[in-house]
Amino acid sequence: MWNIMKIGICNDHAGVEYKEKLVKYLKGKGVEVVNFGTDSVESMDYPDVAHPLAVAVENGDVDAGIALCGTGNGMAITLNKHRGVRAGLAWTTEVGRLVKAHNNANVLVMPARFISYRMAVSIVRTWLSEPFEGGRHQRRIDKMVP
Ligand code: RB5
Repeated sequence: MWNIMKIGICNDHAGVEYKEKLVKYLKGKGVEVVNFGTDSVESMDYPDVAHPLAVAVENGDVDAGIALCGTGNGMAITLNKHRGVRAGLAWTTEVGRLVKAHNNANVLVMPARFISYRMAVSIVRTWLSEPFEGGRHQRRIDKMVP
């Protein structure tokens, strides 16, 4: 169905519920999912799960990643410290499309406290389906790492 067949997923306490539902959704579509996130709603520190996901993406242990926290920003900022990661925050389906088409995000980040689960699924489906446009966008990506 999609080119990406093995996805790493991570979340803090704010993203547990959507993570659990997304894992079921993705497995139902035949995607292998590796869970790097917490399975508890007890407060925890998102970098503790973001770094292991980033390393898995950089090493090619997973084809791509999905990360969830309250606003998405803690995950995105942490993940983007890794040179091999392009973590893009998406909160609408169209932003989910553009974060692949223009930014070729290899980790999709979503703000679990600010979108519905229905929106999260729509964003994931779109990000997975959308091809990267390349061309001028590849040129811009090549300029990202200082
Ligand atoms: C947790 O309360 C919250 O700070 C976290 O989920 C995230 O929004 C951080 O960026």
